Amino acid sequence: MGRFVVGKSRELPPGGSRSVRVDGRRVAIFNHAGRLFAVDEACPHMGADLSNGDLKEGILTCAWHGWRFRIDTGEGLTRAWARLRTYRLFREGEELVLEISDSPAASGDLQDPPPPSGGAP
Ligand code: FES
Repeated sequence: MGRFVVGKSRELPPGGSRSVRVDGRRVAIFNHAGRLFAVDEACPHMGADLSNGDLKEGILTCAWHGWRFRIDTGEGLTRAWARLRTYRLFREGEELVLEISDSPAASGDLQDPPPPSGGAP
């Protein structure tokens, strides 16, 4: 768990996607029209790399057999049980930061890191 730098923002331009290995897991990251998303890399059907899928209008379609998922929530649209775990992916300066936590979190278009917990009011 924690936050991990997975690259530079310029390495993931709009329309871009790729797979990263973080904290012992593989995660597919996307820049969808300027918004950042991150989901489990492996398709729950037969394990295809979802970073190679087709992402249009918020729907990710697996390249192998066409199963579909909402990129923002991970909801399975082909099989309801086939959900993807989502992760927070955001820009911090020029870097892309992926947050791995116990609870699934919606990824999205955060431009700034979340505020630090505790500390000054
Ligand atoms: S492996 Fe993704 S739909 Fe079959």
